Amino acid sequence: MKTYLINSAIILLCGVAGGIGSCDVGNMAPIANTATLSPKLSDYGIFPDGSIERPAAGFHKYYLATQLFTDYAEKQRLLHLPRGARFSFDSSGNAVFPDSSILVKTFFYYPDKRKPAAGKQLIETRILIKVKGQWNVGTYKWNAAQTDAFLLENGTDETVNWVNERGLRQTLRYHIPSNEECSSCHRSGRSITPIGPKSRNMNISLMDHPNHESQLLHFQRAGLLTLQPDDLLAPLPDWQDSSIALDQRARAYLDVNCAHCHSSTGFAESTRLFLGYEVPFSATRIGARKDHILHRIQATNPNIRMPQLGTTVPDSAGVALIRAYIQSL
Ligand code: HEC
Ligand code: HEC
Repeated sequence: MKTYLINSAIILLCGVAGGIGSCDVGNMAPIANTATLSPKLSDYGIFPDGSIERPAAGFHKYYLATQLFTDYAEKQRLLHLPRGARFSFDSSGNAVFPDSSILVKTFFYYPDKRKPAAGKQLIETRILIKVKGQWNVGTYKWNAAQTDAFLLENGTDETVNWVNERGLRQTLRYHIPSNEECSSCHRSGRSITPIGPKSRNMNISLMDHPNHESQLLHFQRAGLLTLQPDDLLAPLPDWQDSSIALDQRARAYLDVNCAHCHSSTGFAESTRLFLGYEVPFSATRIGARKDHILHRIQATNPNIRMPQLGTTVPDSAGVALIRAYIQSL
């Protein structure tokens, strides 16, 4: 069976290459916004002097335990709560935010990764904004002068060039996702949800703070988080930390790069391949699908390659990690 969603970057080729028997996308229709977003990023007052280095008071930087690969882009993450309000974690460890919260993720490249202080090329700033209990998605593409960014609902491609940490020139066609693509990754059943802010993904030490303060305790002390003792779960392993066991690193990599779709409430639910870190190994189906996984993450054909959205090139470090893991099974 083949299903093509017309006018969308999502082409599902079910039953080929990955070898799954069927592919039901009937209940996976895109989720529309319920609120209208401002046309300009500056309307939200996130970066008052136009620099992402100096976000407004009330927009707080946060860090995740393990990284999502997006075509080598660098990312900055901010969270904003209405005055006096706090966030908390539910019994599954997912952050629960009050209405009018805003989550902000800016994607940029260092023209020369060896000299980060020499400047950044800002590409897009994605936001999630909660209005009347519903999250809304939007991305803002930075102008050439890098003075402001403008709402873009249908996605586009932009050529980026940079010099990597080894001094090699790199170029690719970076893809800014459409609202429909946002909703594919950010869906939980029929609603939009944040992905990164989970207790195990945020329970890390802040390396740039005195005494390497715990991020969760830092937010609690700042009056932004209501913390319960159960929230202090062991952090998700950093997949780039080679001192950690291979299977732990691989499961963390699959969690952050794949599990938002490959879960029982996600876009790839019909594959029954569940890649969340907390899913017991036998329930993931990784063992039975190990050849499919390797085939799909190293594919050069974009219709076959996984993750299905969000990247245009394979993640060579991630492929090497998953290959070693698959060979160890
Ligand atoms: C390929 C899947 C994918 C697509 C497409 C995608 N996101 Fe995300 N997004 C993620 C993942 C995974 C995270 C958490 C990890 C991180 O922060 O790097 C995330 C994080 C975020 C965050 C920070 C808060 C959070 O949920 O963790 C915002 C804001 C965000 N995305 C907005 C958007 C918007 C707006 C779009 C569409 C323009 C979009 N995303 C498209 C996967 C995706
Ligand atoms: C944007 C959502 C999305 C993300 C992210 C994603 N997938 Fe998928 N994946 C799908 C969909 C939808 C299908 C079913 C259609 C198809 O086979 O192409 C699928 C199919 C597959 C299949 C074939 C089915 C099977 O069980 O044999 C494998 C293997 C797979 N994905 C692995 C991964 C891995 C590994 C990652 C992370 C590196 C990943 N996917 C990330 C959406 C996604």
